[in-house]
Amino acid sequence: MQTRLDRSPIAAIACDALIIPAFEEGAPVTGAACDEQIAAAHGSGECSGKEGEFVLLHGPRGLAAGRLLLVGCGKQALFTAADLRRAAGAGARHLKDKSIRNIALVPGLSGAAAVSAAVEGAILGDYEPDRLKTDPDKSKKRVESFILAVPGAPPEADAAFDRGIILAESQNFSRGLVNEPGNLMTPNELASQARMMSAEAGLECEVLDRERMQQLGMGSLLGVAIGSAEPPVLIIVRYRPEKASAATHLALVGKGVTFDTGGVSIKPADGMEKMKYDMAGGAAVLGAMRAIVKLKPSIAVTALVPAVENMSGSRAQRPGDIVTSLNGKTVEVLNTDAEGRLILIDAITYAQRLGCTHMVDAATLTGAIVVALGHVHVGAFTNNQEMLDRVLRTARAEGEKMWQMPLDDEYKEQLKSAFADLPNIGTRWGGSITAAYFLKEFADPTPWVHLDIAGTAWLDECKPHMAKGPTGVCVRTFTELALGWQ
Ligand code: BES
Ligand code: MN
Ligand code: ZN
Repeated sequence: MQTRLDRSPIAAIACDALIIPAFEEGAPVTGAACDEQIAAAHGSGECSGKEGEFVLLHGPRGLAAGRLLLVGCGKQALFTAADLRRAAGAGARHLKDKSIRNIALVPGLSGAAAVSAAVEGAILGDYEPDRLKTDPDKSKKRVESFILAVPGAPPEADAAFDRGIILAESQNFSRGLVNEPGNLMTPNELASQARMMSAEAGLECEVLDRERMQQLGMGSLLGVAIGSAEPPVLIIVRYRPEKASAATHLALVGKGVTFDTGGVSIKPADGMEKMKYDMAGGAAVLGAMRAIVKLKPSIAVTALVPAVENMSGSRAQRPGDIVTSLNGKTVEVLNTDAEGRLILIDAITYAQRLGCTHMVDAATLTGAIVVALGHVHVGAFTNNQEMLDRVLRTARAEGEKMWQMPLDDEYKEQLKSAFADLPNIGTRWGGSITAAYFLKEFADPTPWVHLDIAGTAWLDECKPHMAKGPTGVCVRTFTELALGWQ
């Protein structure tokens, strides 16, 4: 997809279709003769500005555009950059479905955040999880060119536009990794994707293999991996700015279970195919690193992705097994399906050994977070309120919904084992919280935020602005978190 920021008058923008937000407060105005046509559509009730509405006008008078697409955006007074991102995606998807592929958009909102959001929306909306379809015509289902029409945009708009492209392309990179099926996206494959991305983008990438992890003593991570013929890896990607601020070294830790059968505590067959997205946290941190090295924040950032396949079989970990984690604590594995936390704790301890001063992790960790928050909000947990507030502020600005969950010490009562320091599961109640509490036992005292993305990393049905499948959630928040840190 070609992209361009165009400062010429709206009337002069040549394209197959020009997208304009329409609001409930009244018909949109372009200043050209087509305003009469728009007013007619408005008067007939076809263009009410309600969210989700599309009105396509052919041959708009006085415009160089071949068509005008009015996208309903609700109340103008409430219209934000996040709404604009979705509207741009919805407009792009609506048009490409009709094979209208050279498109332009008037953002309907001013400022740098709007410029970024508009181009992000178009790039994210254009993504399709169809790499493995052999249809020779599938390129016809892509946007060919996208023009953002901002007459007289200030000079800063160019940087905002470029930033939006980097963020959205990095998010799509992450979605591409998640979309790969488990037979192709093995831990080793994830490592080679990380290596390739790092080489292209200019990052340092190191991959710890099983032997190295054995030497280090990562018994908790290795216990999960033992049931699979696919060897585990710990992927480490480093971003070091030329002039680093000494104070902060941020770790981004992402769960990289390339397929989760549940192990011996096996999952039901129904829906198990979705468990290829159990590495979405790992993919999110790799996507963020890709954007980070291009946007150059002033802090050091290290990504850690423990990658394993969770299988059952004659060599697999048993319920009741006790493993020794890297930090020395022993864990009784009461349920082999609670494997995410087992691999994350060794990565978290390793991040501390690398000198990271702050840690954020993203993980498709629990079904319980989907029960609690549905598919709307990421569940956010912390041992440091100030750090979580920073993450929540950043996420809000990026249009990624996150909701704080509690982490009171009462939940610790569920984490008692008769035979080891702690069990890997609690009771049925508050499952996403006891999972987070388990991580906290290893993250303390380093300031840490845990994001449970089990409900938000995958769309079960396609949305107007986004295809079914991986969402790439957290890529933008992680990138902006690093950029905003001084
Ligand atoms: N990967 C799953 C969590 C998950 C569930 C992600 C549904 C996406 C959708 C995780 O490894 C898991 O199996 N968690 C268990 C924990 C339980 C055994 C305590 C769960 O949530 O059922
Ligand atoms: Mn599991
Ligand atoms: Zn899992």
